[in-house]
Amino acid sequence: MIGSTADIRERKTVEKAVIHAKERLEKANQAKLELISRMSHELRTPLNGILGFAQLLEMDDSLNSQQQEFVQAILNGARHLLNLVNEMLDIARIETGEIQLTYDVIKLDSVIDESVKLIQPLADKRNIKIVNQAQLDEYYVYTDPTRFRQILLNLLDNAVKYNRDNGTVMITGRSEGGNICIHIKDSGVGIPKNEHEKIFEPFYRIKGTEVDGTGMGLALVKQLIQFMGGTIGVESELGAGSDFWFSLPAIKGDYSGGMNLYQKRLLQMGEKKILYIENSEANLKLMEKILEPFPNFSLISANCGKDGLKMAFRERFDLILVDIHLRDISGYKVLESLQKDGRTKQIPVIVFSADIASLEMEMLKISKKGLKEYMAKPLEVGLFFRKLEQIFTQNKNKEN
Ligand SMILES: Nc1ncnc2c1ncn2[C@@H]1O[C@H](COP(=O)(O)OP(=O)(O)OP(=O)(O)O)[C@@H](O)[C@H]1O
Ligand SMILES: [Mg+2]
Repeated sequence: MIGSTADIRERKTVEKAVIHAKERLEKANQAKLELISRMSHELRTPLNGILGFAQLLEMDDSLNSQQQEFVQAILNGARHLLNLVNEMLDIARIETGEIQLTYDVIKLDSVIDESVKLIQPLADKRNIKIVNQAQLDEYYVYTDPTRFRQILLNLLDNAVKYNRDNGTVMITGRSEGGNICIHIKDSGVGIPKNEHEKIFEPFYRIKGTEVDGTGMGLALVKQLIQFMGGTIGVESELGAGSDFWFSLPAIKGDYSGGMNLYQKRLLQMGEKKILYIENSEANLKLMEKILEPFPNFSLISANCGKDGLKMAFRERFDLILVDIHLRDISGYKVLESLQKDGRTKQIPVIVFSADIASLEMEMLKISKKGLKEYMAKPLEVGLFFRKLEQIFTQNKNKEN
């Protein structure tokens, strides 16, 4: 149906109103960030003074036990405030998109070990056992190491803080879909069902919680994880402990540096233009990192199927990478369109999917029309390089 002039006018007015509202919100967020930044600076300077002098007093042997207690109270209060200020600033930065992540490859096992070591003294005080059963030595994530550690530390801190004396904290991890999912399970007080969502809101603390805290930890953790392209959740019952989990996109394989045979060959393949059709920013970052050692490869991305097809028909690519889960059309649809069109029919394609069983079924149907490669997520980097090497060599032979 074609809209009347009045319809079009009305739609334009609504569009304008939405744009205005968005601009107002962005401005308000910006103003909030500026206020919090300034406030935090003003607060931090005297706080550092308080912390510094209180620490000096703490070391003074001549204080009697009551004076020592007072000093501890000052230290606790000052640390609490400093924490609050830092976490508020972090959240405001995420909300305005001004948080900067410094990406690096993180070996999951090592970061978990390090974080456990940091929390261990806190657990020892109350005879709480931390059991690390996460066997993730093959897995890596590509994200900000400091922020990642911050997430783990916050969850481990809670798992100890809200535990009972002589309790346990169990860490497990497994690959799930294209992601790595880490669980931190405690034997503590548990969380009533109707508060499972609320605890992720800033300043929210469960009524009757006696241990000290600002109520900001989980809010920050949730925002950070979402910013990194992951998800977080909790399963818990009152009195039966809680299981906090989070998942992030991961890669599998040896990422300790040093080039294998395939990588060396890839470097000599000449210039290659690769199109990656993928809507997850985090996965795209991963791919950029994986292909970083190859200056001869240029990676171009499309964040939905339709844009991907447009680009594939417009430019000439040596390889197309397609994720099956796209937000507009399915990856299979993309494959089909690429196959049908004369401009793209001959271009090699690698398809990624977390659900390898159904992918294999679908690929059987598709590959009758033309052989396409597929790979499971989390991506096994070594295997990926091998596949690239095969594809580019085959194509070179065809060209010759
Ligand atoms: N593992 C847990 N078991 C039981 N309750 C929990 C657990 N983790 C969090 N909570 C509840 O959720 C609330 C919010 O947690 P959050 O980590 O955001 O803040 P906090 O621990 O109070 O302070 P901080 O900002 O220092 O982390 C806590 O006050 C507590 O009531
Ligand atoms: Mg906390």
